[in-house]
Parts: sequence; structure tokens; C-alpha cells
Amino acid sequence: MAIYQRVRDAADASAIHGLNEGFLASGVIIHPHTRRLDLSQTRRDFLRRVGIAGGAGVMLHSMGALGLTSAHAAETPPFTPLKMSDLGRHGRKTVIVMGGGIAGLTAAYELLKGGYDVTVLEGRGRPGGRNWTVRGGDTYTDLKGRTQKATFSKGQYMNAGPGRIPQMHVTLDYCKELGVPIEVFTNQNADAFLYRENVPGALNGVPVRQRAAKADAYGYTAELLAKATDQGSLDQYLTAEDKERLLSYLRSFGAIGNRVVGDPAASFKYNGGGRRGYDPQPGAGLEAGTPIPQYAMSDLLASTLGNYFSFEMGFDQAMMMYQPVGGMDRIAYALAKAVGGGRLRYNAQIVEYHNTVDGVEVVYTTPGGTKKIVGDFAINTMPPHIAAKIKSNLPAAIVSALGSVSVTNAGKIGIEYDRRWWEEDFRIYGGITNANTNLANMWHPSYGYHGDRGTMIGYYNTGANANFYGNLTPPQRLAEAVTQGKKIFGDVYGKGITASFSQDWASTPFSEGAWVGWPGAVGGQTGTGYRSLLEPTGNVYFAGDHLSHAIAWQHGAMVSARVAVESLHARVTAA
Ligand code: PHE
Repeated sequence: MAIYQRVRDAADASAIHGLNEGFLASGVIIHPHTRRLDLSQTRRDFLRRVGIAGGAGVMLHSMGALGLTSAHAAETPPFTPLKMSDLGRHGRKTVIVMGGGIAGLTAAYELLKGGYDVTVLEGRGRPGGRNWTVRGGDTYTDLKGRTQKATFSKGQYMNAGPGRIPQMHVTLDYCKELGVPIEVFTNQNADAFLYRENVPGALNGVPVRQRAAKADAYGYTAELLAKATDQGSLDQYLTAEDKERLLSYLRSFGAIGNRVVGDPAASFKYNGGGRRGYDPQPGAGLEAGTPIPQYAMSDLLASTLGNYFSFEMGFDQAMMMYQPVGGMDRIAYALAKAVGGGRLRYNAQIVEYHNTVDGVEVVYTTPGGTKKIVGDFAINTMPPHIAAKIKSNLPAAIVSALGSVSVTNAGKIGIEYDRRWWEEDFRIYGGITNANTNLANMWHPSYGYHGDRGTMIGYYNTGANANFYGNLTPPQRLAEAVTQGKKIFGDVYGKGITASFSQDWASTPFSEGAWVGWPGAVGGQTGTGYRSLLEPTGNVYFAGDHLSHAIAWQHGAMVSARVAVESLHARVTAA
């Protein structure tokens, strides 16, 4: 979005206005396939001309438009990392980071750049918090005492928490900085399925390829809008020229027919077509392929399938999306490594913390006994509903702000199969099948294609569905998932299962939920409760995705941690 904005801004800048066209006319090379400016050939020349015409400011702006400056600087919240020389006469300050999840690790990592003395206290035996990748050999006991031992094969894994990263998130900047390789996460696949049951009409209980549902949804919408436009229903909103242009757009958008002169009903008809799929497919010689006939408009509307397509347009859910190669926890471990083992205390469960006259003290338990640590500052990155339960001398209003969040649950099951039936039988390579059953989402893995085994996320659900599965035992969860999955994929959903592991965030120690929201009743994210946590309370700072507008994203945790670091550092250096 921001890139297009910048391109537009650059094009609008008066100094270069008109230059683009003149420039194109003067021999700029357009790449033959992409139809875009071939920048490699022309950018120096272009910039030189812009520089001459508009001066350095315009030049910089145009460089942004051409993607030649750091896109990050323009697209993510600005952040200047600390430098070792920053502390100077202020002396070495000690910071206790409460929680070794993504916010805590980011805070520690950034503080270390400025020469702070940092200790991270983490209750778990590993870094990352909700960033958790489960592999064969991992053992886990939840708060209800249910123990699972994962038996995934070598190379197979499930991301029990975060699993996808949008392009504009600083999460990718940290991957780059820390050398964590990434690969595409397929968040949208035309050949994955949609499934709706308990709906009226012929599509009830019918698995539908996403491309078919989308072609029909777009096609019928375009047909109706084209008819209304052409028949004059929208004349008060459209000029005659607008109408022709809209009709042209709708013909392309919906793959609909042309105007049939004298026959409004037959005009702009959606009659299906190849974009929804073929049986048989186009092939050799005379095999032109036969498009699969469209669903009736009324059935399509009754199915609610069209409502799914807003998902892929979400700011943070639109392709391209990415994942670290080998599991999301590669980020957590890279941060932990950069912070350094000696500064990270695992199995350190915080039980009490206090502001003191000139610092903080934090009490925590370890397998070896109770310990106390003192520092100049603390950054509390614990989930707010957990922080609210911990003994402290924070003012009651702060504790009540922490406790005012509403907690959302989420659950996932990883199911390893001895063959990649989604690829072999359905030709689905990555992406998400979505259902209105308790499974909600099934993720076809975006790694290990064509391998001899693979691990599906057999469900990824939230709220009531997550609670439903969370109340079952792990074997019951698998059985239920298989029952539901068979409705869409048939018996293969239950065949050749070699391992499974299911995660319920509500019953997870140190998390007790998947993510939080700020209820409007207490002012939401503009209210005094939320705002009070953006400020330090004495020497205690707060950070976490819950203190961002990217809740339930690692990006939110990271940018919140950066802000806490900046604010703490500004205070130290102002003294
Ligand atoms: N980031 C999580 C996910 O992508 C949770 C989330 C879902 C956040 C949808 C926003 C929108 O699944």
C-alpha cells in the first residue's frame, strides 16, 4: 500500500509532473514481460533528470518510489537502534526483562546494542513464548496436567503459535538482521477447498474449490452490477462515460458476456468459464478442456462462500507471506543466541516484583530455589492477564488495567501423514482450506513439497471452537478432527497418520490464552487503562503485542519492545 502511495506521491510531485510521460517517450525501456520500467537500465538516468528538475528532496522521494531507498524506513514505524557509545557518562544501567517471548527478546537484543546490562527471566525452558515450533521428541504438559510427547519425523514440525509473516512486518527485518532464512508461506490457494454445512441450497456440505467459488461470486456480482448499470439504475451516480468504463471493468472482473442489444436479461451474463476449473483439463491436440459448470447464483449466495474472499485482502493476511525455513522458532532462537545464553534465565518463574526507590527488584523461582534480582529498570512483557495476578507494589489502577483485557483462545493440531495426499490426490500445494465446522482452518504445509511425508495443520481455530477442542484429551482431539476433515477430503484425512500433536493456548503455562483484546467497555485502545501501560510505572515499563495495534502478531511485540527501549533510553540519557 505504502509503495503505491509513494509512487503516486512521486508522480504527483510538481517538479517531476509530466516527467514520467516525457521520460517514457524519450526511450525508457519497458520490460517486455512485466510491462514495467526496466529500472536496471534507466534508473540512474531517471534519477539524474529528477535531481536536476527537483533537487535532492524530490530525488530522495523518487528513489523511494523506485524502491531504491530502504523501504523499511518508510513503511514500518521509525526506529533508530541504540549505539554502544550512547550511554557514555550515564554509566551502565541494568534492565531486567520479564518474559523471554518475542517482545522480551527484542527488548533485550536492542538494549544490548546500547551497552545495557540485561537479564531476561523466562518461565519456560525455551525462548519465544507463543512463538513455538513442535518437533519430534518434544514433551509438553499443559495446565490441566495433560502430557503429550511429539513423535513427528525428522524434518517435520508444526508451528503451534505464529505461522505466517506479512511482508511489511518488522519480523522480516529481524529475520534479515539475524540471518534467519525465510520462504513463502502460502496463505491463499485457488485450489484449496471451502466447505460450508448447515446452509440452505445445493452447496450444503459440498467441498468447493476456492477458484470455483470465487469465479462464481465475482461473476454473479459483476453480472448484477453490469445489468443495473446498463439498465440505468445507477444513473444518479455515474456519468455515461463512467458507465462504459465500469462495464468494461466488470466484464474483466467477472468474466461476463457482452451487452446483447435489445435483450437486457441476456446481457452481461455470467456463464462460468475456465477460471473456475476444468474437467477434463485442456490437454494435447484437440483436447480444449471442459469448464466445470457454474453453481446457481441462489445456491452460491445461500452458501455464504463469497464471504470468505475478504480474508485474502486483509492488510496483514494478503499474499505474499513468509515463514522462517525450518520453523517459526528459528526467530526466537536467533534472538536468544544474539542476546547470549548467560543473560537468559530459563525456568525462572516470576512471583513478585517491586519498584524500589532507585530501581526494581524481581523475585523468581527456579528448580534450584527462590531468587531475587535487582536492577535499575524492568520491562514487563508478560501477558497482561498473567502480570495482573503477580504480586507487586504497582498501583491498583495499573493492575486493573492489566487485568482488563479479554483473552481469546486458539488451538492447532499438527497431523503427520505418511504421504502428502493433499498434493497427490488433490493437487493442493500449500494454502488454506476453510470450513464452517469446528476445524475452521486446515493449513496445507508450505514446506517439504513432494516429500514422502508431510504435516498438515489439521485445524487452526479460535474462540468457542478452540475451547471445544481444548476441553478434549489429545487423542479425542485427533479423532474429532479426523471425523470433521473426512467430510471435506474423504477417508484420507484419517489414513496413514504417523504422529499428531495438539495445542490449546488457554491451558498453556505462561500464556493462558492465545492473544488479548481491549474491551470497549474499559475504553479499548484509546482508554486510560491501555494508555497507562504505555507509560512506565516508576521504573517498570510494559511491552508486548498487547500494547500495539498489531495484536496477535510478532510485529506487534517487536515494535512495542522497541518503543519501550526508546523510552527507557531517552529517560536514562536525559538524566
Ligand atoms: N496473527 C494470527 C494469524 O495470522 C492471528 C490473527 C488472525 C491476527 C487474523 C489478525 C487477523 O493467524
